[in-house]
Amino acid sequence: MPGEELRELANRAVAEIAGAADDAALEAARVKYLGRKEGALSEATKRIAKLPPGEKPAYGAAVNEGKLRIERALEERTRALREARVARDLGGEREDMSLPPRRVRVGRLHPISQTVREVSRVFATMGFETVEGPEIEWDYYNFEALNIPPGHPAREKWQTLWISNPLGDDPSRPLLGRTHTSPMQIRVMEQRRPPVRVVIPGRCYRYEATDAIRESIFFQYEGLAIDEKLTMADLKGVLFSFARQIFGSDRKIRFRIDYFPFTEPSAEIAFDCFSCEGRDPECRVCGGDGWIEAAGCGMVHPDVLRRVGYDPKRYQGFAFGGGIERLAMLRTGAPDIRLFYQNDLRYLEQF
Ligand code: DAH
Repeated sequence: MPGEELRELANRAVAEIAGAADDAALEAARVKYLGRKEGALSEATKRIAKLPPGEKPAYGAAVNEGKLRIERALEERTRALREARVARDLGGEREDMSLPPRRVRVGRLHPISQTVREVSRVFATMGFETVEGPEIEWDYYNFEALNIPPGHPAREKWQTLWISNPLGDDPSRPLLGRTHTSPMQIRVMEQRRPPVRVVIPGRCYRYEATDAIRESIFFQYEGLAIDEKLTMADLKGVLFSFARQIFGSDRKIRFRIDYFPFTEPSAEIAFDCFSCEGRDPECRVCGGDGWIEAAGCGMVHPDVLRRVGYDPKRYQGFAFGGGIERLAMLRTGAPDIRLFYQNDLRYLEQF
């Protein structure tokens, strides 16, 4: 009986489709049974026309039913293969909707970054623009242009980390990790004409042992103002205002004469010790001195001005440079500079 034959054909097709190992095998089975030209079901369809009229309806129905079963089997297998592929790609991962979401942890700025921004903000109130410069520097900018030629004894003040030039060392152009931010005074003046008013925060490097107040990698801020008729009074006024804005009105400040090759006259400014206020001769912060040196400063040396093409008869200026970490210690009361760089979140999260 042809109807019976058809059912068996469909059974075979469904079994073959269910066992298809991949998309290619599945497609082969589809062509074999439903293919328009030589598919088994298509052949059967063609036979309907040749049947005696009485057998046509039953046979036609059997063909349709067989087609439907095969199509459904194809769909099912296609879906099963796709799901297996996705599961394999996910490596067996599953979503667990009962898992509580991960807490969103909001970050914050490191106390050193906060201090850099605070310094920039305060000097901005006095018209200083913040600029930045390279940490790897030529000897020329770090020393020579600042009146510190090779062999000058002042070089001893800056324990220098020399760097070999990856493009080949040129003995006449030594390279170093900048030991201070002062080289940026030269770079800024080379590029601008007066008036100049800039503050330059940045990382510096020194070949030095670390202790409670010293690190070999640290930050400085540098200030430079050049204009007509600037005097030491302007320098003092700016630095007093800076100290008052950062530490409040009761912090004491001391100006003393100092020496730097690139300023004349030069001075050193110090804040009174926040930790012992001068009362502890064993104080770890000030060493019992009662004062913390905060910055070097002075009137820009005429030779430095001349070197960048400024006329020292017409223009004068002042400069200052100090340590960011010391300011951060004063602001936060940190007893040890190393706390800033140990990456202990229990400490850093307080600020
Ligand atoms: N660059 C000096 C240092 O690191 C500090 C300094 C002194 C900067 C005097 C200045 C200055 O701009 O005028 O020790």
